Amino acid sequence: QRMRIDVVSIFPSYFDGLTLSLLGKARESGILDLRIHDLRDWTSDRHRTVDDTPYGGGAGMVMKPEPWALALDDLAAGSDRPTIIFPSPAGEVFHQTTARELSEREHLIIGCGRYEGIDERVFEYAASLGEVRLVSLGDYVLNGGEVAAMAMIEAVGRLIPGVVGNPDSLVEESHEDGLLEYPSYTKPSTWRDRAVPGVLLSGNHAAIAAWRREQQLARTESRRPDLLKD
Ligand code: ADE
Repeated sequence: QRMRIDVVSIFPSYFDGLTLSLLGKARESGILDLRIHDLRDWTSDRHRTVDDTPYGGGAGMVMKPEPWALALDDLAAGSDRPTIIFPSPAGEVFHQTTARELSEREHLIIGCGRYEGIDERVFEYAASLGEVRLVSLGDYVLNGGEVAAMAMIEAVGRLIPGVVGNPDSLVEESHEDGLLEYPSYTKPSTWRDRAVPGVLLSGNHAAIAAWRREQQLARTESRRPDLLKD
């Protein structure tokens, strides 16, 4: 299937890196229709203002609702209830399962906030146009939604059929089966006195599969015991 992603940001050049590598190729081939927009294109004052002081006082600035509403109206037009994502440290945490779910959507719109956030009424308004999701990359604070949006686009984009050349590489990765990935080795078989685990050179496929599974469990237990809870 083909997927459309619209991104709205006041720093569109953050997304220049998404012309590279696998996502760049997917865009060239048309599998991924990724469009980056400048929020200021939906302002009409001379200074292209996107923010103002917060009602009730407090530090920092809040993004004004009107440019966001005009942008969302334009981008959602002609689309059947797109999924509208706002990266936010106050959202649900983004996981591989979130990436899977989003990779099955036809149209995502990602709104990148800056400053102290976006006027709350924008989220309510967006819910009249599509399904709204506030999504956090993790429990830390970034300066804006752009870096989080890029991470999500990469995680979602590589799950679109045809983006990653060999689909086998998708199933053996960390998090796809709820465990961390097994360790990998390549030639030479001994390097600076360190030998590759012998079982990998044995040609015994069942033994190799069993060893890799043990390694996955051992690493998950020691590095991410939280993943083994259920
Ligand atoms: N914007 C600022 N911090 C963020 C985070 N942790 N996740 C998503 N968007 C953000």
